[in-house]
Amino acid sequence: MSNKVLILDFGSQLTQLIARRIRELNIFSEIRPYHIPMAEIKAFGATAIILSGGPASVTEGDSPTISKEIFDLGIPILGICYGKQLMCQLLGGLVQVSGEREFGRAFIDIKTSSPFFKGLTGQKQVWMSHGDKATKLPDGFVTLASTDTTPYAAIANEAKKFYGVQFHPEVAHTPDGLAMLRNFLVDIAGIKATWTMDSFLENAIAEVRKTVGNKRVICAVSGGVDSSVVAALLYKALGDQVTNIFVDTGLLRKDEAAQVQAMFRDDFHVPLHTVSAGPMYYERLKDVSDPETKRKIIGKTFIDIFEEEAKRIGDAEFLAQGTLYPDVVESVSAFGGPSAVIKSHHNVGGLPERMNMKLVEPVRLLFKDEVRILGKLLGMPENMVGRHPFPGPGLGIRIPGDITPEKVTILQNVDAIYIEEIRKAGLYSKIWQAFAVLLPVRSVGVMGDGRTYDYVVSLRAVTSTDGMTADFFHFDYDFLAKVSNRITNEVRGVNRILYDVTSKPPSTIEWE
Ligand code: XMP
Repeated sequence: MSNKVLILDFGSQLTQLIARRIRELNIFSEIRPYHIPMAEIKAFGATAIILSGGPASVTEGDSPTISKEIFDLGIPILGICYGKQLMCQLLGGLVQVSGEREFGRAFIDIKTSSPFFKGLTGQKQVWMSHGDKATKLPDGFVTLASTDTTPYAAIANEAKKFYGVQFHPEVAHTPDGLAMLRNFLVDIAGIKATWTMDSFLENAIAEVRKTVGNKRVICAVSGGVDSSVVAALLYKALGDQVTNIFVDTGLLRKDEAAQVQAMFRDDFHVPLHTVSAGPMYYERLKDVSDPETKRKIIGKTFIDIFEEEAKRIGDAEFLAQGTLYPDVVESVSAFGGPSAVIKSHHNVGGLPERMNMKLVEPVRLLFKDEVRILGKLLGMPENMVGRHPFPGPGLGIRIPGDITPEKVTILQNVDAIYIEEIRKAGLYSKIWQAFAVLLPVRSVGVMGDGRTYDYVVSLRAVTSTDGMTADFFHFDYDFLAKVSNRITNEVRGVNRILYDVTSKPPSTIEWE
């Protein structure tokens, strides 16, 4: 038995969450678009199949569908929301547009002792989001649970192990959803919950070896968690077929280049080729103050350096990068017709095309926190695993106006004190991202008996779940006073500290 779950995606925003929940159960799953050929479904060798939700209505003529053959494979199938309606319709039931749309919280009344609801009885809270309703069940199906407005909220053909739920078991608002998924996958489909990050690592290594063969790979290391984990994983799989290139742009955080090098040397035991390119970046950024121009120069310089290094290495056919799951699956792709399938985001913008390289993305099936677990498994030290996100253009977009080595050094020192105090106060992991910004403004101050005319720094700290929206972090005044004191005492050239109290929107997290 493969112990793998195939999730067919019908375009729900929640499909990734289904995969995520299944992994929480220590079971492996993969998402594929609903329109993959039946041969691919068979070749996948799933022990159970889940049909996801989706925004369409099965009552429309050209709505996404699958071959009925899927129900002859002898594999247990769970349909969620749209997936349930589709199952119902394809097997001979009737689905109609409902007069009463049901969105948000609802309560199901569990009517049977079906294994799907093992350990659950009576009324249970679920989360609904649908406008269609099954009005006649297919032959062989029974009702397992209903709500006031949805008589067929959960249905099943227990003999064939087909289940359908109108609600979303994958969301937190369905508190017993994980138990239902467990009941379906473990008790009903008989999957052994043995998937762990160790087995992921083993599989990923085997897969990378198969893909790359004896060719050469280059891996662009940024110092962040994702690319570092990929580098360590690839080295385990391919040894010295891999060249890890780390570009020190001169725009990194204080001591960051040394920390990344130490991590590769002492914790990963993986060779890292560092290109010290600070002077080149400073030269190209001289007197440039427009934010977009700065970003473009920084990006282009990276590509130039990388291309040069790749030429030096010679015959590399593959480029590795730390693309994560949320970057990979575009749920809307399911509706773009047969040609629009899963797209990859190219982290190292433009490089693969320009250099005619193939991509290796060994953590593309993982979520951020799973990559962190993998990182620990590969020996990544604790203080590196949970680091706040850091933008590609680095401190270059935290110094509004022109960039000079002097300004970068001041900002690095300010930032290091700020982060050190945040860590000391036990706040680091409560904050999505914290950093300092050096403003292109000087202000008058007094120190000892003398007048100063120095830089102004703004501190920023935000909470967020995904970086898309953010709220400023509510430090207490004593904390801010302490940080302000330390910075003005310890960093020459700064005499005024501000705290940024804007959220995103209307601001962005970074200043440029
Ligand atoms: P903004 O400033 O747009 O940032 O609110 C949202 C998140 O994205 C990060 N960020 C970047 N990351 N390259 C990156 O790798 C970039 O050019 C870039 N710009 C912003 C930012 O740090 C925050 O986490």
